[in-house]
Amino acid sequence: MSERLAVRCPAKINLALRVLSKRPDGYHELDTVFQAITLWDLLEGQGSDRLTLECDLPALAGPANLALRAAERLRDHVGDPSLGARLRLTKRIPVQAGLGGGSADAAGALRLCARLWEVDIEELTLTELGAELGADVPFFLQGGTARGTGRGDRIEALPELSECHVLLGIPPFGISTAEIFGALSGRLTLYGNGVTLPVLLAHKWPVDKDFRFMVNDLEKVVLERWPALRSFRHALVRAGADAGLLSGSGSTVYGIFSAQSQLERAREMLADEFADWKLVETRTHPGGVEWIEAEGAT
Ligand code: C5P
Repeated sequence: MSERLAVRCPAKINLALRVLSKRPDGYHELDTVFQAITLWDLLEGQGSDRLTLECDLPALAGPANLALRAAERLRDHVGDPSLGARLRLTKRIPVQAGLGGGSADAAGALRLCARLWEVDIEELTLTELGAELGADVPFFLQGGTARGTGRGDRIEALPELSECHVLLGIPPFGISTAEIFGALSGRLTLYGNGVTLPVLLAHKWPVDKDFRFMVNDLEKVVLERWPALRSFRHALVRAGADAGLLSGSGSTVYGIFSAQSQLERAREMLADEFADWKLVETRTHPGGVEWIEAEGAT
C-alpha cells in the first residue's frame, strides 16, 4: 500500500477587515487581520494513478472543489500529468460561513500533495499557487495571527495573541462572498492604510482588552440584509462577550471571551433564543494547516 498522509485544516475568523478600494481586476484592496481557530476539516491522501476527491458532503465532491483544484494546480506546476492522489475530505467547517473552509482545504491539499509527490517546492512558490486559487489560501499555509493586505493574499505574521475563547454563531443559511463585495462596491468609503495594525500592536491585544481595532466593513451590507445577525451580535455582548463581530462576509458572527466559563455561560443564555443556530466553541490557534496521523483522520 502506498503512503497515507493526513492534514487538518483550520477555520479562520477576521479580527478586523477594512475594505480600502476596488481594484482594476474586480477584487477589493483589503487590510485584514486573520486569526486561525480550532475548528478543523480533515484531508487524507494516498498515491493513486488518478487524481480524485471524495467528500463526506457529496455536494462538495465535484470538480469545482478547491482542494481538488489545488492538487491539479500543483500537478500542472510540476508538469507531470502522471501524478495522482486519492484525496478524502471530511468537512467540519460550515460552507458559506465566512470561516474560510474551502481556502483552508486548498492549502491543505497543496501541503499534502507536495509531500505525497515529493515535490521540492519553495514556500513562496506554494503561497503563489495558493493565491491563484483564492485570496485566503496563503493565510492558511501559515495560520496563527496574520495581517492580510492586497486581496488579503499578502500575508505578514503578527505577534501571537494570548489564547482567547471564541464562540461561533452559525445561522441556518450561508452567504455568498462575491455577492457581498458586489453590493459594497457602490458604498465604499476610503480609509487610510494601516488603520488596524497600529492599534493591535500598541495594545498587546487581548491582554489590555482593547477591542477598538475590531471592525468589519462588510457588516454594513450584511447586517442590514440579515437583521438576525445584528441581533445575535448584540446578544453576544449582552451575554458577556468582550467583543462580537461578523467574520469575513458572514454568515458567522463570533464572540471573543477571555475565559472559558464566560463563553459557556453565554452559550447557555443564547441557546434558546437562537435555537436554529449552531453554536460552536473554539479557541484561537497559533498555527495553520498541520500534519496529523493518517489514522486520526478516518
Ligand atoms: O478569492 P476568493 O475566490 O475567495 O473570493 C471570492 C469572491 O469575493 C471574489 O470572486 C470577489 O468577488 C470577492 N473578493 C473581493 N476582494 C477580495 C477578496 C474577495 O472582491 N479581496
